[in-house]
Amino acid sequence: MIGLSNSTVAGNLLEVRNLRRSFAGVHAVDGLDLDVAQGSITGLIGPNGCGKTTSVNCISGFDRAFTGQVDMAGVPLAGSAPDVIARGGLMRTFQAIRVFDSFTVLENVKLAMQSFDQATVVQMLARTPAFRRIEEGTEAMARELLELVGLKAKANDPAGELSYGQKKLLSLAGILMSKPRLVILDEPVAGVNPTRAMEIAGIIRSVQARGTTFLIIEHNIPFVMRLCDSVVVMDRGKRLVQGTPDSIRNDPAVLEAYLGGTANVDS
Ligand SMILES: Nc1ncnc2c1ncn2[C@@H]1O[C@H](COP(=O)(O)OP(=O)(O)OP(=O)(O)O)[C@@H](O)[C@H]1O
Ligand SMILES: [Mg+2]
Repeated sequence: MIGLSNSTVAGNLLEVRNLRRSFAGVHAVDGLDLDVAQGSITGLIGPNGCGKTTSVNCISGFDRAFTGQVDMAGVPLAGSAPDVIARGGLMRTFQAIRVFDSFTVLENVKLAMQSFDQATVVQMLARTPAFRRIEEGTEAMARELLELVGLKAKANDPAGELSYGQKKLLSLAGILMSKPRLVILDEPVAGVNPTRAMEIAGIIRSVQARGTTFLIIEHNIPFVMRLCDSVVVMDRGKRLVQGTPDSIRNDPAVLEAYLGGTANVDS
């Protein structure tokens, strides 16, 4: 069990209040409250269809047909477009991987930065000296991040040759290019072997140690219990409970809602 590494955190980086999103009368998110402490790794768990991805889509601006408050560092995000929210320091991955298979691993990471910074694209087309300096900096940072996620040796290979787990790591390196304050990961270890899952946990911890806060959706309960400082349990569009892994592990309401009362939420 990993000890709490964030006992000195000062307040919440992300606060969600009374978030609601319906699809044709189905209340996918039904008054969600959520707190992500500055510097923490916060887990978001709950049964299939309880509204986790929909909530993240709303928080990150990809879905704006919701009501409720979303504040990051005290700044309201609700209603802003995803690129504006990204520039404000919130980056997210998707449940389905988005990687350009025919580009190299290094190019994929650099592309992530260029799609983030439109000004860079204009300068790139003009091939200005300023662009060449930016490009050198971008390349150095991309190589550093590839080393961080353990893909340095694959930098010049086509991304299509990577395993599924390696593509997840590549996506993570890409979103770290913009030095986000908050990273939201949607199922970072789904379909990944246990060794790779442990590796991903270690990488997330290293990035946290550099000052990045994480909100992680995941069905792999042992992974969440070992990695997270705080865990939010969602059920039918709402927060059922939020607390330390130890406090939710044996919570009767959690066992009943999430596991039908038949198993332990155990690591
Ligand atoms: N675009 C959509 N149109 C209609 N219904 C949707 C849409 N997106 C999500 N839903 C519904 O909203 C509910 C919540 O879905 P969501 O994908 O947020 O769940 P989830 O907690 O991420 O599930 P999982 O763990 O399976 O990924 C489900 O009932 C789903 O069918
Ligand atoms: Mg989902």
